[in-house]
Amino acid sequence: MPSEIITPPASWSPRIVAFFCNWCTYTAADLAGVSRMKYAPGVRVIRLMCSGRLDPQFVFDALRQGADGVLIGGCHPGDCHYSEGNYRMLRRFRLLRRLLADLGYEDARVRLEWISAAEGDRVRVVVNEMTEQLRALGPLDLPGRISEWNRELAGNAPGAPSSAAASPVPEVSHA
Ligand code: FES
Repeated sequence: MPSEIITPPASWSPRIVAFFCNWCTYTAADLAGVSRMKYAPGVRVIRLMCSGRLDPQFVFDALRQGADGVLIGGCHPGDCHYSEGNYRMLRRFRLLRRLLADLGYEDARVRLEWISAAEGDRVRVVVNEMTEQLRALGPLDLPGRISEWNRELAGNAPGAPSSAAASPVPEVSHA
């Protein structure tokens, strides 16, 4: 069954949960703030000591609790204060993306960026870019997706009428 297209009101703005590493992207976001750079207001930053601390469950929880997208920011490769936390994050991120794609989430809903402490403007650019991509996708509408999956599962349950039975093809008379 095709999903219902929900048109958000013109005033709708996507909500982004951002997990930023303390030593780089979080400091860059702070720099963007004190430099009065303007970026979309729908982002809520959660500080982690390293991007490698991010448990994929945090991403699922954020999406489940109303975020339309999740942004992860870490130190550039080779600059992680814990040596290889960001490499671990990168491996985890690739798996996470595949898993989310299997569940029907669009790739643009989760993004990983390497942003150093000096790159305040990069935070502004990435947040604004992601906000526009999410605005184009529309709200995540997880409850709507879950009821759609439930309908699909009910349709595939043993004993459920098959789609062919539900909409039989009329027989052609050869008389
Ligand atoms: S300390 Fe920044 S990603 Fe590890």
